[in-house]
Amino acid sequence: VFLSRLTLRHFRNFDQQTLSPFAGRNLIFGQNAQGKTNLIEAIHLLTYLRSFRTGRERELIMRGREWAMIEAELMSSRRGREHIRLVLRGGQKYLRVNGAPVARQEDYLGLVLAHFFIPSDLRLIAGEPRERRALLDVEVVRALPRSAAHIRAYYELLDQRNALLRELAQQEGPPPESTHRLLRQYGAQLAEEGSRLVEARMRLLAEIIPRTERFYRKMSGGRETLALTYRTYWGEEVAPEQFDPRGYRQRMEQDLSGELFREIEIGHTRAGPHRDDLEFALEGRLVKNFGSQGQMRSAVLAFKLALCEFTADYGEPPILCLDDALSELDDARRLRLVEILGEIRLGQVFITAASRRECAPLEGQMAKLFLVEAGTIRELTEPLGAGGAD
Ligand SMILES: Nc1ncnc2c1ncn2[C@@H]1O[C@H](COP(=O)(O)OP(=O)(O)OP(=O)(O)O)[C@@H](O)[C@H]1O
Ligand SMILES: [Mg+2]
Repeated sequence: VFLSRLTLRHFRNFDQQTLSPFAGRNLIFGQNAQGKTNLIEAIHLLTYLRSFRTGRERELIMRGREWAMIEAELMSSRRGREHIRLVLRGGQKYLRVNGAPVARQEDYLGLVLAHFFIPSDLRLIAGEPRERRALLDVEVVRALPRSAAHIRAYYELLDQRNALLRELAQQEGPPPESTHRLLRQYGAQLAEEGSRLVEARMRLLAEIIPRTERFYRKMSGGRETLALTYRTYWGEEVAPEQFDPRGYRQRMEQDLSGELFREIEIGHTRAGPHRDDLEFALEGRLVKNFGSQGQMRSAVLAFKLALCEFTADYGEPPILCLDDALSELDDARRLRLVEILGEIRLGQVFITAASRRECAPLEGQMAKLFLVEAGTIRELTEPLGAGGAD
C-alpha cells in the first residue's frame, strides 16, 4: 500500500499542507523543530488512531485553532483507492473512509498497513517490560485481529482481580470463603485468556524472531548475532514453535491458586502474561544493559524491518516510516540498512533526517525529496548537491 496524497489542516505546526508522496522512497529533510516528526506523527495517527507523542489530542491541533484534519488517499492493490479523513475536534475523533463514518475502531485498524521507527521505540529494548509488552501486543492485535477480544478480556479480568486483591489486602483477618471462590473463578478465566494471549504473541513471534535476527546480522555486517527470547513470568525461555498453551494455562491456574495468600498481602496478581518478557541479547548479554546506542537502534530497526517483511509476505507491501533512524548509525550500518530496504517489498518509505548527508545513500531514481521548513513542505526538484537542507 502507499499514500498517494496527504493533506494536513491545522495539524501541529502545519496550517494547510498537501503533499503527493512517491510510491517509493520519500526523503524528508529539515532543520530541528520544523515539522518532520509532526508529519510522521500524522501518518502514525492514521495508522493507529493515536499519537506516539501525546495522549492529549489538544496538543495535536495547531495553536489557536479549534480542530485539525488529516486526509489521505491510500492506494492498495487489493482494495484500490481509498479516501480516509480523520478530524480531531473537542476531544473527539471523527473518522470516515470513503465518506462513510467508521463505527468501530477495530474495523479500521489494519487498513493502513504501516510500520514506524520513532526514537521512542528504543523503549522496546531500553524500556520496562511493561512498555515492551505493550509494543508487542499492539502488533499482535494488528497481525491477528481476532486476538484483540482475548487481550481485552485478559486485562479486564486482571484489573478486576487486582481490585479485589487490593480490597482484601486492606481487610483484617482471612477472607471469607465466598471471596476465595470468586478469586479462584477469576484465576481460571485469567489462565484461559492468558494462555490465548501468549499463544497469539507466539504466533507473531514465530514469524518475527527469525526475521529480526537475520536483519540484525545483516546490519552488523555478519559480525554480531542477536537473539530474541520469550521468557515466561516463572523464568523459563520458550521458543515460539514449542509453546504449549495447555501447559501454560495449567501452570497459571496452579500459581494463581497457590499464591493467593501472598497475592493478598501484596495486593496484585503475580502470575500471567502481564509479567512475561521479551529479551534481546547479543552474545548472551542483554542489549538493554550492555548494548551500545548503535546496537540498540539496529536491534529495534531489525525488529521493525521484520514486521515489514512479515506484512509483505502475508498481506501487502507496507509503508515504512523512519523518523530520525539513521543518526547514531555508522556509515557501514547505514548502507546496509539501505540495502535491506531494497530487499524487502515495501509499498512506500518515509525517512526523515536533519541533514541531507545522512540520507545520501538513499537518494536516487526511486526517491522524492521534501524539505520541511517552519510548517511548510516543499518538494525539492533541484539535482543532487544543489543546495537543499544541508
Ligand atoms: N499544536 C501545535 N501548534 C503549533 N505548533 C506546534 C504544535 N505542536 C508542535 N508544534 C511545533 O512543531 C515543532 C516541532 O516539530 P517536529 O517535532 O516535527 O520537529 P522536527 O522537524 O522533527 O525536529 P527535530 O529534527 O528536532 O526532530 C515545534 O517548533 C513545535 O513548537
Ligand atoms: Mg523530529
